[in-house]
Amino acid sequence: MAKELTSLAPEMITHKADMSVPFFRYEHIYRPYRKEFLALIDEVCSRGAFILQKDVREFERSLAAYVGSSSALGVANCSDGLTLCLKAAGISTGDEVIFSSHTFVATAAAIHSAGAKPVPVECGPDHLIDPYSVASAISPRTRAVIPTHLNGRVCEMDSLLQLVDKYNLLLIEDAAQSLGAKYKGRFAGGFGQAGVFSFYPAKSLGCFGDGGAIVTDNADLYEILGRMHNHGRLPSGRVTTWGMNSRLDNLHAAVLSMKLAKFDDEIVARRELASIYQSQLHDVAELVLPPGPDSDPDRFDTFQNYEIEAEDRDRLVEYLSSKHIGTLVQWSGWAVHQFTELGFDCNLPNTDRLLERIVLLPMNTSLSVSEVSYVCECIRHFYGYPN
Ligand SMILES: Cc1ncc(COP(=O)(O)O)c(C=O)c1O
Repeated sequence: MAKELTSLAPEMITHKADMSVPFFRYEHIYRPYRKEFLALIDEVCSRGAFILQKDVREFERSLAAYVGSSSALGVANCSDGLTLCLKAAGISTGDEVIFSSHTFVATAAAIHSAGAKPVPVECGPDHLIDPYSVASAISPRTRAVIPTHLNGRVCEMDSLLQLVDKYNLLLIEDAAQSLGAKYKGRFAGGFGQAGVFSFYPAKSLGCFGDGGAIVTDNADLYEILGRMHNHGRLPSGRVTTWGMNSRLDNLHAAVLSMKLAKFDDEIVARRELASIYQSQLHDVAELVLPPGPDSDPDRFDTFQNYEIEAEDRDRLVEYLSSKHIGTLVQWSGWAVHQFTELGFDCNLPNTDRLLERIVLLPMNTSLSVSEVSYVCECIRHFYGYPN
């Protein structure tokens, strides 16, 4: 069992027969702090502060300080943020950009939107981009690599940094799922030229709609991004580069600042939930669990998701659903390279196999210890293990 269950949702006394564990409770990102949110919304709206006001600047400063980057820029969502980074870094037609096929299609779409060719590669047993597969996909046209730090875990950065250094490639991090995660003491988003986060409501730092941010230590890139996300306009109003409208709403920035101040508690709670899954499921031979929160001193995982591999996955999902337990297979079970209609034509057998086995168990701070234990009991029962 988890050591100290201090940060988790309070227990509700529920009879097991009535237990229902949805995959995510969207209303929970609002309800526990309803009064504070209403006061904040009232304060911001009463100031008439809606677009690019001080709340955006304050959030950007706090986020940059949190991840140890020089600057942060609020954008409308992570997908736009990735596109902006690639364009601002000069990626365009004729270039190739390597990414892991086990990611959201948004990663590849950003590459396509920048005019470049998305080149999908395998993920390793950790479900993250496989540096060997990256190495073998590098061609004379390769200009950049986008590792996706999936599920709240940073990719194997030592090998990736060596590769991008050796071949003089740009590194743009898709950190949509990994705010706060660390590798050898460094935060997700802080390894490359830029890193991009998502504040989609179900993300560990979620707002009440779409939102995202770019972090970078590169002052020139930050200056270009600052223009490009606001129609390419200079403070004078003169436009010297094509841009787009991709600003983080001021109201969302205020909400995100409030949530960022409590973000460490969110991570503690997620890591506690992961410990419970680990302790109650570790002996189930039909499963592969993610590494436990304290299993590797080089990693600090934030458990945006709890992605397991399961034998007989589809039947397990069906069984859990009959027990009123919600699960989710990321990307509805399709890796990006499997979208042949988009022009992909490559063989990634490890990723194909993984996509047949993976499933996300409920992982969010609305969950109580008994709910997670109920999920574990049902899984054990499905595979014929005693509770
Ligand atoms: C790995 C990954 N990349 C990119 C995105 C896109 O983020 P957004 O919805 O903020 O555009 C997501 C969102 O789910 C994601 O999980």
